[in-house]
Amino acid sequence: MKLSRILLVLVLALAGGGLAGAPSVAAPGHRVSYDKHSLMVDGRRVLVQAAEFHYFRLPSPDLWRDILEKEKAAGFNAVSVYFDWAYHSPAPGVYDFTGVRDVDRLLRTAEQAGLYVIARPGPYINAETTGGGFPGWLKLVPGRARSSAPGYTAAYRDWLGHINPIIARHQVTRGGPVLLYNVENEYAVNTDPAYMQDLQDTARAHGIDVPITTNLCCDAASWTSTWASGPGAVQIPGVDDYPQSFDCGNAATVWGPWGAGITERVRDDAPVFAAEYQAGAIDVNNAGYEACRELTGVAYTRYFQKSNLIAGGATAFSYYMGFGGTNWGWLAQPNDTYTSYDYGAAITEGRQLTAKYDEYKRQGYFLHAVAGSLTRTDPAPAPTAAGLETLARANPDDGTQFVLVRNPGTAAVSSTLQWGRYALPVTLLGRDAKVLTGGYRQFAASTSEILTHETIGGRDIAVLYGNEGTPGATVLRYPSRPRVTVLDGRVTSAFDATHGDLRLDYTHTGPARVLIEGGGHRPLLLMLGTAEAAASFWRADTSAGPVLVRGTALLRSATATPGSVALRADTAAAGPVEVFTAGRAVTVNGERVASRPTPSGSLLGHLPGPRPVALPALTGWRGHAEAPEAAPGFDDSRWTVAAKTTSLSPFAPITLPVLFSDEYGFHTGSVWYRGRFTATGAETSVSLNAITGRRGNYLVWLNGRYLGSAAGGVQADSDAPANPAPGPGTFGVPPGLLEPGKPAVLSVLVQNMGHNDDWTADDNRFRQPRGLVGARIDGSAAPVTWRLQGTAAIDPARGALNNGGLYGERAGWSLPGYADRGWPPAGSTVPAGVTWLRTAFRLDLPHGQDTSVALRFPGTPPAGYRAIVYLNGWQLGQYGAAIGPQTDFVLPAGLLRQDGRNTLAIAVIATTPSTVTTPSLTVVGRHRGGVPVRDVPAAVSPLRAAVT
Ligand code: GAL
Repeated sequence: MKLSRILLVLVLALAGGGLAGAPSVAAPGHRVSYDKHSLMVDGRRVLVQAAEFHYFRLPSPDLWRDILEKEKAAGFNAVSVYFDWAYHSPAPGVYDFTGVRDVDRLLRTAEQAGLYVIARPGPYINAETTGGGFPGWLKLVPGRARSSAPGYTAAYRDWLGHINPIIARHQVTRGGPVLLYNVENEYAVNTDPAYMQDLQDTARAHGIDVPITTNLCCDAASWTSTWASGPGAVQIPGVDDYPQSFDCGNAATVWGPWGAGITERVRDDAPVFAAEYQAGAIDVNNAGYEACRELTGVAYTRYFQKSNLIAGGATAFSYYMGFGGTNWGWLAQPNDTYTSYDYGAAITEGRQLTAKYDEYKRQGYFLHAVAGSLTRTDPAPAPTAAGLETLARANPDDGTQFVLVRNPGTAAVSSTLQWGRYALPVTLLGRDAKVLTGGYRQFAASTSEILTHETIGGRDIAVLYGNEGTPGATVLRYPSRPRVTVLDGRVTSAFDATHGDLRLDYTHTGPARVLIEGGGHRPLLLMLGTAEAAASFWRADTSAGPVLVRGTALLRSATATPGSVALRADTAAAGPVEVFTAGRAVTVNGERVASRPTPSGSLLGHLPGPRPVALPALTGWRGHAEAPEAAPGFDDSRWTVAAKTTSLSPFAPITLPVLFSDEYGFHTGSVWYRGRFTATGAETSVSLNAITGRRGNYLVWLNGRYLGSAAGGVQADSDAPANPAPGPGTFGVPPGLLEPGKPAVLSVLVQNMGHNDDWTADDNRFRQPRGLVGARIDGSAAPVTWRLQGTAAIDPARGALNNGGLYGERAGWSLPGYADRGWPPAGSTVPAGVTWLRTAFRLDLPHGQDTSVALRFPGTPPAGYRAIVYLNGWQLGQYGAAIGPQTDFVLPAGLLRQDGRNTLAIAVIATTPSTVTTPSLTVVGRHRGGVPVRDVPAAVSPLRAAVT
């Protein structure tokens, strides 16, 4: 073993046990199995609680740890990850797994965070990524995608031949974190079982030996394949469920239009796996992600997910998304998303925790506490409560009962839960649900929900909660009368010696604390309070048992040392911290915290908050107009000649030659076309058609004169037959501009906004072209020779999706090292065409602190132009009314030099002369703590001296 590995093993061993069955790098391989109830690791049942995370939407590898630790801190024990083929493969046979693409590092980080991984390498992933994960070059490969056609087969086997071995060496069976392997994605119509089987055979041949799953979509009635049996069947079919739809604009009124959640079992010998539980939404109506967060907010999360657990019996699930991230560069599939992929998730794009995160934590900690019982349950008779719905499951071995009490109505309902011999008061808000636990350890029954139940320092500590102001009652079983001390708050108690029932009655409000001693059980400290108060607790495991912490904004990890506990924690403000630990002393982020014992047996100390942050004003902008390609004399001799007359696209070119940019190897971003012809003087207009995907446009010049712009066509699925001439634009030829017999040049700048997905596996929408699809000079029959130019060179660190083919991109104007000293100060207006703005600023952010920074444009996005934003050469945003509602663009630490010089470049593409507004820097979040973040290395200077 190498020394570094030994040290890592030692650190992890000191860091302690982790969750039950959680992976450890020190461990040899484990056995993964399953039955109808749950997955098992070494025969131990595991309740898989995952959240989806896309490393490719956070191009700062040190921040992967931040997100994964935040997921773990909410009680998740797994992370679900798509691997995006297009992100790794710029050209056939070329793959990159370094730097921001280092998935080996990602898997190690997940393991160090104590998370299992559900690995989803596609080949098709959807996920609102360009091409749904298919590289642009796949459009040129013959053979229907997502089938066993030979061309496609060779291509995907090559991808899997690269990604599978990386995944394989990180499997639980080899001591790593990968617990499940997901083939394909919602592959349910237009299916090919031989392909589905080959994906699995290929995975096995590459050493994948964990169970294979697939995620199935939607509504079984309308889909033809379930992969539960027959050719191509997987071991554990998963179900995707998006009950709230994606109608973020109507968040206030939408309630479950797409179904009641997971209700059915797909296969009898496998656990119910909710592969994608809706946990946010794509913003298809441009309502903004705060609206999506509301659509999928606390009430939805509470009601639907609790129903899924008890009504559906799911023991494995993944929230889509746990953290959405950023569609940086040209990563997005343009029809459903813009730069931000915040998704309204529980952790925002700026890495901040929300009220939804609190609800995940309440459910996550509960599931962790009861996983041993909840992983083997069957439907059971439920207690009743007038005016409320109840459903129950019970564990046949230990008798634990889980009772779902829900209120589908919108008004609060107060009732009495008749649970065996107990009559307990229960109040549910409108659209509220609780999972109540009975027959569990000494808990006979309760109308409070369990947040957590731990044994710390020889006594039990449980946190119970309910909504503010609602009544709670808990019955505990004791062989003999215990001693009850109310330490805090108002709680009445009564002991029924006949049955051995200790009943506590209280209201869920400002926290109450009760210490119960004697009576034949270990001492029990009960903390009873509101849902909000419950969410202020954090738990973590150490080798000396769990700790509970209250008062921090996050608890990343805890490590036991003799007599002490070392916490890694974030704080949002200075204030008290309370720690329940077997230790006698506490350190936080390496510093000793002065503390004193409390009557509750905890330690109470005080923690400092974050330091203030002053961000510089962004001034000193310099500007430079470009688009020399529009000028007649521009040398395009090294551009690619467009001469093809056929293509594999289902879309027939309107004119020849074929001008689809993919045909000539330009798959990303802006593409320039120059068409040369000899003028006759009879030209009346120019008629063009371009397909860009939603949000795109194109600009047109004739002999250097700007003629105007048009919106690009979308041409997705069913539009195709209905709309044979998408993205039309007709531009009159100004009289006198063209001289008979003289050469003339038509220049067109087209935005390729990204490639369509292949959601329904019809091969059609994904192969739809980008760029010009028709070009005519009206009034002239003169032949036109066409050349085109897109991305000039692939940036080795930032990758193929970072840049398109604007002149400034080809010349390195987006890069920090470009010498813009000769540029004049930027004015406040730009002409139609392309203008670049650049400035630089220094940061000196406080160390040992996580400051999340964004770029904020004032006002609503402009109609006259779009702006493409580069921070230190990384394309982090597209701004404009045609693109979306987004005005704040997150600048991830690592790309943002927190301690040094930063360069901002903005390419303004104006369809009309416009007044431009420049952005300012803003603080999204500020916490003492965080994870160390190093600058992400990338080239600072232009890659090529000569620009073509
Ligand atoms: C699912 C799909 C995901 C994602 C999601 C919407 O159907 O599996 O990849 O596209 O919809 O965000």
